Amino acid sequence: MKIWTVTRIRQAKGKQKLPCLTAYDCTTARMIDEAGIPLILVGDSLGMTVLGYDTTLPVTMEQMLHHTAAVARGVKNALVIADMPFLSYQTSIETGITNAGRLIKEAGADAVKIEGGAFRADLVRALTANGIPVMGHIGLTPQSVRELGGFKVQGRTQTAAAKLCQDAVALAEAGVFTLVLECLPSSLGAEITAVTPVPTIGIGAGPGCDGQVLVSHDMLGLQDQPLPRFVKRYAELAPQMRDAFAAYAKEVADGTFPRAEHGYEGGA
Ligand code: KIV
Repeated sequence: MKIWTVTRIRQAKGKQKLPCLTAYDCTTARMIDEAGIPLILVGDSLGMTVLGYDTTLPVTMEQMLHHTAAVARGVKNALVIADMPFLSYQTSIETGITNAGRLIKEAGADAVKIEGGAFRADLVRALTANGIPVMGHIGLTPQSVRELGGFKVQGRTQTAAAKLCQDAVALAEAGVFTLVLECLPSSLGAEITAVTPVPTIGIGAGPGCDGQVLVSHDMLGLQDQPLPRFVKRYAELAPQMRDAFAAYAKEVADGTFPRAEHGYEGGA
């Protein structure tokens, strides 16, 4: 059994802050796991970070299965949560159960994440009743980017803020074991955290949440485009990688790599 279980994550509420990072491949997932991070999210952000799309909307179940399986193979202790991609759970509860079940059964995820508020409560109840742990996700829900009119801060009016508090409570009552709060005013992140009995995992929702999640490509400095203000870069890997690729290209071109020490001796 893994060190990090759904029960232990629930029990961390109010006692221990919970870091979470995204991973899309085995090598990165192994390093995140070795750093002792309890939650690894195979986000459908892979559509943008790895597959080159502008939104998460084109991501398919087959892509999520492929990347989740790679991540699961690298992880010993962290809980692996697979994002359910757009239209893999919206059309019916049966479709949601079938697709969530595939992420658990075929890809080795420990839990799934779905986007949406109180209107997802029936699906959350159905999934958890069938043994599938669910992480909720409210606020800026990228699968609704067209409806929201862009990647914008949510919950800025009193009505919208009150609705998000109700969504959080409804999802917790339905059985989510954690709840992602994306792009909300910090005061609202803290307010939702106070009224929700399960850990909240913030991304752009301020320091008052029970945990934080970042997209690993963003915090590692692998992305070229301007990043939202909530991202802190913990490394600048893009320039280092470009320098390494350029140095390699130059050495191959000028014959300084490979050298004798990089080859094998012949003979018996
Ligand atoms: O897809 C993703 O990476 C996410 C996180 C940003 C929460 O949903």
